[in-house]
Amino acid sequence: MKRVRFCRIFRCLFLSAGMLYSYTALSANRTYVLSSDNTSLAITTNDGGQAYYQYFGPKIQDSDISGFFGVGSNFTGHTLPQFGVNSYGEKMLAVVMPDGTMSVDLAMESVDRSDDERGELLVMQFRDKVYPLIVRQYVRKYRDCDVFSTWVEITNEGKKGNIRLLNFSSGCFPVTRGDNWLTQFHGSWGCETGMTEERLPDGQTVIADKAGLRNAFGTNPGFMISLDGRPAENKGEMLGFNLLWSGNYKTKILAGRGGIDVMAGINEDTSAFTLAPGECLKTPEFAMVYSNEGKGGVSRAFHRWARKYGMAHGDRLHDVLLNSWEGVYFDVNQEVMDQMMGDIASLGGELFVMDDGWFGDKYPRNDGSAGLGDWMVNDKKLPQGIRGLTEAAKRHGIKFGIWIEPEMANTKSELFEKHPDWVLSQKNRPLTCGRGGTQVVLDLCNPKVQDYVFDITDNLMKDNPEIAYIKWDCNSDIMNYNSHYLPADRQSEIYIRYHDGLHKVLDRLRSKYPELVIQLCASGGGRADYGLLPWFDEFWTSDNTDALQRIYIQWGDSHFYPAIAQASHVSASPNHQTGRVVPIKYRFDVAMSGRLGMEIQPKNMTESEKDFAKKAIAAYKEVRPIVQFGNQYRLVSPYDKGAVASLMYVDESKNNAVFFAYRIEYLNGQNVPNIRLDGVDPDKNYRIHDLTPADPSRPSNLDGKVVSGRILKNAGINIGRSLNRPFTSLVLSLTAE
Ligand code: GLA
Repeated sequence: MKRVRFCRIFRCLFLSAGMLYSYTALSANRTYVLSSDNTSLAITTNDGGQAYYQYFGPKIQDSDISGFFGVGSNFTGHTLPQFGVNSYGEKMLAVVMPDGTMSVDLAMESVDRSDDERGELLVMQFRDKVYPLIVRQYVRKYRDCDVFSTWVEITNEGKKGNIRLLNFSSGCFPVTRGDNWLTQFHGSWGCETGMTEERLPDGQTVIADKAGLRNAFGTNPGFMISLDGRPAENKGEMLGFNLLWSGNYKTKILAGRGGIDVMAGINEDTSAFTLAPGECLKTPEFAMVYSNEGKGGVSRAFHRWARKYGMAHGDRLHDVLLNSWEGVYFDVNQEVMDQMMGDIASLGGELFVMDDGWFGDKYPRNDGSAGLGDWMVNDKKLPQGIRGLTEAAKRHGIKFGIWIEPEMANTKSELFEKHPDWVLSQKNRPLTCGRGGTQVVLDLCNPKVQDYVFDITDNLMKDNPEIAYIKWDCNSDIMNYNSHYLPADRQSEIYIRYHDGLHKVLDRLRSKYPELVIQLCASGGGRADYGLLPWFDEFWTSDNTDALQRIYIQWGDSHFYPAIAQASHVSASPNHQTGRVVPIKYRFDVAMSGRLGMEIQPKNMTESEKDFAKKAIAAYKEVRPIVQFGNQYRLVSPYDKGAVASLMYVDESKNNAVFFAYRIEYLNGQNVPNIRLDGVDPDKNYRIHDLTPADPSRPSNLDGKVVSGRILKNAGINIGRSLNRPFTSLVLSLTAE
C-alpha cells in the first residue's frame, strides 16, 4: 500500500522558512499589537525565545501597551505550552521524538508580520533546542471584522525518524478570571444547539466531540465566556470562540484562581498522528472574538466574518425554495416533482429541490436501506431522467436542485458489491451498519474514493449543467473504525485524514463549480460548523421543522451562524416530528427569520394557506436583504421562559429593520413585556409595517405608526394586542423616514 507522505489537510508547504517568509530574526523583547476596528490583541516576545499573550480587549494604540506586561496583564502563560520540561498542567503540544524522548523545548527563532487578502498575519517560528521539530504559530486578524484566530504548523525537519504527535492543539488562549459564565450548545437529532448557560466552575470543563463526521450534533464547537457576570445580549464583556474544524474537536477550559486557559484543537483521543521526515501537520484555526456589547456583539462579529470568509456566497441572496422531503419522502416521480415545481413557482418560490429517493437501479432507493452509492437515475420513477426535471423547472421559471449523500454507501448497492474495500470496515469483525440497517461510510482517506465522491457531483453537473443547487447530506458517523487504504501504523489518523480527503474533494468541486449553491446537511444540523461551511452556502438547521422548537434551535445557532446560513422551512401541520398543530402564519413567521423555504406537499395545503404563503413569500422577498445580510439583535430569549421570544435584523445604514416576535407560552393574564428594539438608530424615526397579517384587512395596531428610534430603543413596543392567543406571532418592517 502506498505510504501517505503528505498530509494536505493541513495545506502545509514543505518549503524552507526562507522561501516562505521574509522572517525578522528575533532580538530582545518586543510587543506586536494586531488591531481590528474595535479590538486589539497583543503578544510579547522575550529574548529567551518565548511568546506571551498580553492583551485581548477594546482597541488600543501600540504605544499603550509598553510596561503593561506583568502589571496590568495577568496573562503569563506561554502562547504554546509544551510537554516534558515544565510538564505540569495541560499542554498544547506533546510529542514522542524519534529516539523516544517525550519532551519538547521550543525557542522562537523568528517572527514575521504580513498582510494578505484576509487581513494581517503574525507568524512566530519556534524550533526545538535539540530535535528537528519546527512549530510555526500563526495569529490572524481578519480584515473588516473583529475576528482573530490562531493555529500551528508542526513539521518534522529531520532526515530520518518519525515524530509522533500526542497533543497538537490549535491554540491556548488566556482569559481573565472573574465572574465568568460559560454559554455552550448541546443537542441531538431534532433538537440541535440547545443553549446552556452557567457560572464557570474552577477546574476543567471540556467541550468535545468524537462522532467522526457530524461534529455539531451532540455539542457545537462554538461557545462564549463572559468576563463580568451573567451574560447579557447587549452589554457586558464577552469572548466567543469557535474551532473551524469539521471533525472531532476538544476544547478544555482550565479555570483556576489565577486565570483561565482555553485550549482547543482536533480531538487527539484515539488520534495520535505521525510525522515522517519532511511531513507537516497544520491544525485548524481557532477563532476568537472580544465584545463589550455582550453576546449579541460576539454573534454579530461572527456573522459578519462568516458572510465574508466563513461560508460560500455569503454576499449573495439565497433563493426561496421548496424541498420535496417532508412532502413526499422517498416517493419521488416525474409527475409529482412537476406538480410540486408548478406549485412553488405559483407561490413565488425560486427553486425546487428533489430530495432522497431518485436513484438506484439494481437496488432502487425506496427507503433508507438501499441504493446509496448507485447515483444513477431510477428510470421507473423518472423515465425522462434529470433532464425531464430541469426542463420542467425551466418551464415553471424556477431553478432545480438535487439531493445526494456522497460520502456513504448501503451494503445493498452495486458500489458495495464492486468495492467492499472502499468502505470503513474491519477485517475480523462483522460490519456494524447505520440507517436502514445497511448504511456504511466510505473511506475518504483513500484517493480513489475521493475521486469517486468528486465524480458523483461532477457527473451530475456535466450531464445536467442546469442544476443550480445540491443538498449534500451525511447521515452517519464513523463506525467500523478501519481504513483498508491506510497502513497499520496510520490507522489512528483516520478521524483526521478522512476530513483531509473530504476537503480535497470539496476544493476540487468548488474550483470547478464556483457558482453552485450547496447545502450542508447531516441528518439536520449535524454539521453546523465552520470546518465545512467555507465550501457550503447554508446548512440544514434541523430535521425538526416544528415552528415552536425551531425558535429554540435557531436561537442557539444564531450565536455563531448568520441567518443566511440557516435553512428554515415551513412544513405541514400537524408537524411530522412533534405532532404540534401550528397556524400557517406562525410557521412562516419563524421560517422567515432565516433562509426561508418550504418542506411540504403544497397540493395538501388549503386555499387560504396557499394564499397566505404567496403573500408571505412576497413579503419575505421585501426584507430578505435585511435578514440575510443585516446585523442581528436577539431581543427576548425563549430561554427566559416568558410569554414571548423576539429578535430583529437591521441593515448597515440602520434605515431598514425587520422585527420578529413569537408567543411561546400562553396563559390567561400572563404579562407580555414591552420589547426594546436594540438595533435601531435613536436619531431616526421609523415607519412600522405589519408584514404578514393573518387577515390583511386587520393588521397589527402598530401598522402605519411612525415612532422615534429613541422610544423604540428605550421604551420599546407593546405587542400584547397582537400576541394575544397561543401561537400568535408578528413580523414588522421598520423603515426610517
Ligand atoms: C436526512 C436529512 C433530511 C432528508 C433525509 C433524506 O435525514 O436531514 O432532510 O434529506 O436525510 O433521506
